[in-house]
Amino acid sequence: QDDLVAAGEKVFKKCAACHAVGEGAKDRVGPSLNEIFGRTAGGEEGFKYSPAMTKAGEGGLVWNAETLDAYLADPKSDIPGNKMAFPGLKKEDDRKAVIAYIESKCCS
Ligand code: HEM
Repeated sequence: QDDLVAAGEKVFKKCAACHAVGEGAKDRVGPSLNEIFGRTAGGEEGFKYSPAMTKAGEGGLVWNAETLDAYLADPKSDIPGNKMAFPGLKKEDDRKAVIAYIESKCCS
């Protein structure tokens, strides 16, 4: 598990241009990923989401390991019209690792 989190910390460098997670994390180009597990999509108070992301949340999308995996595999086809300018992580191992890293930082 520690190895997975360490691997995920490296993968997260691809996210860190836009997202912060952990103590004191603020919204940047993308929303803070603190408390992302169990949060409704588009649910970070004060962040200006795309209509597509807001609609996904209204449709019942809640973030957990499974829904994050599906989104990160192919953000554009998972939520058409969402504004995250990121092609996704093709490798399942990278997704597993980055999700484990986010969980280790975000939710105490
Ligand atoms: C949204 C994760 C890379 C910009 C999101 C959301 C997650 C996420 C979980 C939904 C948040 C919510 O509903 O509150 C990640 C991860 C990344 C990554 C794990 C790396 C593997 C990036 C990059 C950018 C970015 C590189 C900027 C180029 C955004 C933006 C949104 C978003 C702008 C809001 C989308 C919308 O409102 O349609 N990201 N992200 N993300 N992300 Fe990322």
